[in-house]
Amino acid sequence: MTYKRRVIVLFTFLMGIALLGACSGGGTSEASDDPNVVAEGLYQRACIGCHGGNLQGASAPGLLNTGLTRQEFIDATYLGVGSMPGGLVSEEVAELITDWIFKIEAEQ
Ligand code: HEC
Repeated sequence: MTYKRRVIVLFTFLMGIALLGACSGGGTSEASDDPNVVAEGLYQRACIGCHGGNLQGASAPGLLNTGLTRQEFIDATYLGVGSMPGGLVSEEVAELITDWIFKIEAEQ
């Protein structure tokens, strides 16, 4: 094999690896466009510490089947309620998390 040929073979090999990497990266960013995935991530950052990993409750009550309306749930989430502090998330994020939780509730 000439030197030039070896360089071409090596180059082709490296391009293959680069393409593989690009494909798996693309898959991940597609998934995070899903509002449910985004909402779950926000829940994990802002709520999980008090309300538990499966919405089952921990130091705070569980968040499934609360009997609250969508609007009451959103208000509680960004304004706070009782001993839960307000201002944890914006109103928009509260809506996103509420819709995600209500969807889980509907699918039970
Ligand atoms: C610092 C702990 C803490 C964090 C963080 C927290 N909560 Fe709470 N949450 C509470 C407590 C405590 C209550 C019960 C308040 C009461 O009734 O006195 C509560 C109540 C609620 C209620 C009303 C439940 C009902 O049955 O009336 C909702 C809805 C709620 N939280 C949603 C959320 C969401 C969504 C997040 C994330 C953005 C969140 N909370 C983050 C502590 C927390």
